[in-house]
Parts: sequence; C-alpha cells; structure tokens
Amino acid sequence: MYSSIDLDKININAAPPAEEPARQYYFMAKCRQHVREESARLGRPLGAAVVNFGCQMNARDAEKLQGILEAIGYETANEDEADFVIYNTCTVRENANLRVYGRLGQLGKRKRKNPDMIIGLCGCMMQEPEVIDKIRKSFRFVDLVFGTHNIYKFAELMASRIESGDMVIDIWKDTDAIVEDLPSKRKYPFKSGVNIMFGCNNFCSYCIVPYVRGRERSRSPEDIIREIEALTADGVAEVMLLGQNVNSYGKTLKEPVTFAQLLGKIEKIEGLKRIRFMTSHPKDLSDELIEVMAGSKKICRHLHLPVQSGSSRILQKMNRRYTKEQYLALVGRLRDKMPDISLTTDIIVGFPGETEEDFQETMDLVRKVRYDSAFTFLYSRRTGTPAAAMEDQVPENVMKERFDRLLSEVQAIAAEVCSIHEGHIAEVLVENVNEQDAGLVTGRMSNNILVHFPGDAGLIGKLIMVRLTEAKGFYYMGEAV
Ligand code: 5AD
Ligand code: SF4
Repeated sequence: MYSSIDLDKININAAPPAEEPARQYYFMAKCRQHVREESARLGRPLGAAVVNFGCQMNARDAEKLQGILEAIGYETANEDEADFVIYNTCTVRENANLRVYGRLGQLGKRKRKNPDMIIGLCGCMMQEPEVIDKIRKSFRFVDLVFGTHNIYKFAELMASRIESGDMVIDIWKDTDAIVEDLPSKRKYPFKSGVNIMFGCNNFCSYCIVPYVRGRERSRSPEDIIREIEALTADGVAEVMLLGQNVNSYGKTLKEPVTFAQLLGKIEKIEGLKRIRFMTSHPKDLSDELIEVMAGSKKICRHLHLPVQSGSSRILQKMNRRYTKEQYLALVGRLRDKMPDISLTTDIIVGFPGETEEDFQETMDLVRKVRYDSAFTFLYSRRTGTPAAAMEDQVPENVMKERFDRLLSEVQAIAAEVCSIHEGHIAEVLVENVNEQDAGLVTGRMSNNILVHFPGDAGLIGKLIMVRLTEAKGFYYMGEAV
C-alpha cells in the first residue's frame, strides 16, 4: 500500500519504471524535487487547490488528486491563493460546462499577475473534443489537461509540464486499465467513497456519461475488500460504494461476482459500521440484492433509485429498459421486505417529445412512490447523444413551468415523508460541528436524513443514539439518549 512507500528512496535520475503504480511513484518523487526547489526559492510552502464539480464519483477522484498533490509536497490552499489549481470538471448538463468556462476566465486573470501559477483541468468535460478545441483556442494559459481514463497519470503529466514548460494535453478515448494503490486524501476521516466500478454501458439516450467515462469495468472484489479493510483500520466507519450502475457490478470480471455477493463480503469486514452505495439502475436491481439488504445490519436503509420519468413512452425513448409499472412493482418489492426504507430519485423534466400527459404520469408516479427526496433536472441537450438529435425538443418555458410544478409536489411529499420519524430513537453517525451553532453537532441517520443535536467535536465519527424531538421538514432536531 501507499503508506509504506518512501518517495525519497526512489532514484529519480534513473529511467522511469514501466510498470504501474511504481511509475507514478517515480514521477511523484520527481515533482516533489521541483516543489522543494520552488519552495526554497520563494521561501514559503507551495499551496494547491482541487476544485471539484459534479457527482460523488468526481468527489472521490478529487481525493485521489489531493493525495497525489500532498505526496508531491503541496499544502492544501484556497483557490484564490493556490500556486496550483486544478478543476475536476463535470459535463452531465450544459450548465456545468458554462460554470467551468466562467471560473476559468477569472483564474486566467490571476495567472497574468502570477505567471508561475500552474492551472490544470481534468474530468468528464475534458473527454469532449470540442472542449479541448476551445481550451486550445481561448484558454491558452492552461498548463495541464487530462481526462477521466488517465487520472492515475497525474504525477507523470505534471512532471512533463514542469520539464517542458509547455501546455500538456493527454486525453484517452477509453481504457481497460485500473491502477491500484495510489495515494488519496480523504475529505472526512470517518467516511469514504470507494469505487467499485468505472464507466457505463447503458447509453440512456439523453446521457453523455457513457461517452466520457467509457465502458463498464469492475474492480476485483479482493482489491475492494483490501481498500475497505485499510480504510476501516484508519478510522472509517461508513463507506459509499460508487459506480454509475452498481447493480451490474462484476459482470465483466474473469470470475463474475454479483453486487449482492460483493455486499455480503463487505458486510463481514470487522470495524466497518455502515455501507451505502450509488447509483442503482432499476432495470438491474435483483431480488438477491433486496434479500441481502433486508438481512443486513450494516447496509443503510436508503436507496437512490433514479426513475427519470413516470411515462413508459418517454422511458422507452430514454432507453431506460423498464416501464412505469415495472418500476412501481420494484418499489413494492423493496417496501415489502424493508417497510422503513428511504427512497430517493432523479427525474428529468422536458425530455424531447414529453407531453403534458407524459408529465402527468411523472406526477402520478411521484405521488405513488412518495420519495424522501428527489433531484429534479431540466433536460439538457448534450451533443452526440441520441436525444440531442430527436425532433420535438420541448420549449424552455414549458419545461420550466413543469419543473416548478414537479418541484413543489416533490417537496411537499418529502416534508411529509421525512417527518414520520418524530419521537423515534435513531442511530446517527456524527459528521461535524454545526456551522450555525457551535453547541450542536450534525449527523446522518441510516436513511440519510440529517439530525442536529447538542454535542461537541469529540463526537465526530461516532455512532450515537439520538431521540428525534422535532421534524423540521428535511432534517431533525434531537437529543442524545
Ligand atoms: N439532462 C438533464 N439531466 C440529466 N441527467 C443526466 N443526463 C442529463 C441531461 N442530459 C441527470 C439524470 C441522472 C443524473 C445524474 O443527471 O437524472 O440520473
Ligand atoms: Fe447516464 Fe444512464 Fe449510465 Fe446513468 S445509467 S450514467 S443516466 S447512461
């Protein structure tokens, strides 16, 4: 594992090793030499900032970038003071891209005053060829650009930028490689994301993810278990298993393993208290998984189950491969075995061809399922996806009006659903001291709902039994019992 590697013992004057991860440790040692020299020249430590956009998968990637930067010798800094700034980008909706361009413009102004600054860009947005064209043309001051497949090569690319002084761009279309045992720096000491698979093979017709994250590939169960054991030994109580579609985990392994079987193995890890996972695709959610969840003491009573639309006609155009009825039947099976399970979802409003009747089907589904919360999105047209080429795109004003109606329905239901636990006693994993009131701590129940209760920093990372004294809509006030 990384913790046993001493970068100072690596001979950086020899040729770089060919195999991974040794090759990356060699380049980390090289970059570290440079950071030490720069730091001595300036008479202060160098600072780095990783700015993350997007999903949990990106948040985990950001921790990997942070781990490598720390190994290289950078201290963590704010974006406006950092000598090295890297944006880990998202491209799932167009807004995400626009935000990155806006912030990049600001960063360019700073770099004009501090020419030694290094600016990096990585993540999903970089996998789009038109983005790379735009960076080459309009953002010449960027130093380092890489994509989702070669993030493990961060140190090597950085070394190449330091040596050449030129803009380094390295984007791969796809990869089979999964490089294990690189450093990472967790944001929270007591919980961590754990990638179990990468990529997506589903090609939902609106979604750009399969094009920017490549084909589905799973990590071996042994590597996953080893990582979680090491995390647990380091104080982690809760893991979030990450994949675009965790329910199809293991299908591409030499010796196939189901997601339910993987969960069974993880459950046995001593010291681990809670297991979460996301995202589940309804079409692949097996009865075997429902059984394992229902029988588990560690798997949280929460399932994020994106429905996207309540209209079977639209679901078919979305290539989701289930109908409204099948989704509702699945929810029925889940609630049958786990009456207390909390369900959350993603819904897209305004997919091409969506009529008022289709939208009413979505409203009906929301009323039937009664989600604990739902992320609602305006459909965003992503170049290169089948839906972008579909006729009858829904006008923006119609889309927005439907969005508002859906949001108020979702919120009204969520407030009702969330308040049913008032008066109960629940186990809460404490996450932090409350930002508004230092006399309170904030934690999460198994069903993912937040609870604030009197306590101090000493409780962070601990599981505490709390009486839920007052429901406040989407969170609770409580007191330790
Ligand atoms: N437009 C709007 N929302 C989208 N999502 C994915 N692609 C798009 C798009 N083109 C949403 C889906 C997915 C979530 C992560 O983002 O609801 O579940
Ligand atoms: Fe996108 Fe569908 Fe894959 Fe999710 S399952 S990442 S929505 S293509």
